[in-house]
Amino acid sequence: MKNQVLLKSLTMMICMFFLVGVASAQHEYVGAKSCTGCHKKNGVADKWKESKHAAAFTDLTSANGKKFATTAGVADATKDAKCTKCHVTNATNAAEGVGCESCHGAGKDYKLPAVMKDKAKAAAAGLLTPNEKTCTTTCHNDADKTHARAKFSFATFYPKIKHKQ
Ligand code: HEC
Ligand code: HEC
Ligand code: HEC
Repeated sequence: MKNQVLLKSLTMMICMFFLVGVASAQHEYVGAKSCTGCHKKNGVADKWKESKHAAAFTDLTSANGKKFATTAGVADATKDAKCTKCHVTNATNAAEGVGCESCHGAGKDYKLPAVMKDKAKAAAAGLLTPNEKTCTTTCHNDADKTHARAKFSFATFYPKIKHKQ
């Protein structure tokens, strides 16, 4: 009896260890330039370049950007997580703003041609299929009061960035 309980908790601990390990599997960011070369077809790359996401970094140094930064008590909006958490994919490629990998996941492991061509392999290597939650979890929500934002509606916002055929 006692052994069974022990076995059960041991199994659970192993499972939890495994789950945490998978959830925190780290993939590295490569930057949008690594994606746009292959994804010119169907205007995917252009659609992103012309979107406000690609200008999210320059927002931070605009007149409004400076104003919002002052209000939030931020000295350098381009470096402070209070702003970059939504406006930048990662520090290395900050200037690209909200790049491909903000939504599709860090690409170092899935961008390889043999992996990309295989949906299952790509997903296993970190490629995410973004959905409404991707938008609202970190960025398009009311939880952050850094500055006022337009009320988010997936139905009206998504068509502005849609690049799925
Ligand atoms: C070597 C060329 C190449 C590179 C680099 C590349 N891709 Fe791909 N990608 C492909 C090919 C080929 C496919 C499969 C056919 C298609 O959907 O165009 C694909 C498919 C995809 C898909 C669709 C998967 C699905 O479920 O249908 C996404 C999303 C994607 N790539 C995102 C990215 C992102 C983000 C990057 C940069 C981190 C990237 N790709 C880099 C060639 C590439
Ligand atoms: C703001 C989030 C966001 C950004 C930034 C973004 N995507 Fe996507 N992407 C999506 C969503 C959402 C879909 C649709 C997913 C679905 O429903 O299958 C998608 C779909 C795709 C597809 C599949 C297209 C198809 O026809 O099946 C490819 C390829 C792709 N994205 C590549 C890219 C590349 C390359 C970049 C950067 C140049 C990029 N995306 C930037 C959100 C984003
Ligand atoms: C929680 C996510 C989030 C944070 C944090 C955030 N922003 Fe934004 N920001 C957005 C979104 C989303 C938009 C797009 C416009 C909208 O949805 O209203 C935006 C738009 C902007 C714009 C352009 C629109 C305008 O009114 O001029 C500027 C400038 C800006 N942000 C500056 C900043 C600065 C500076 C900080 C840090 C003090 C910051 N943001 C922090 C999400 C965020």
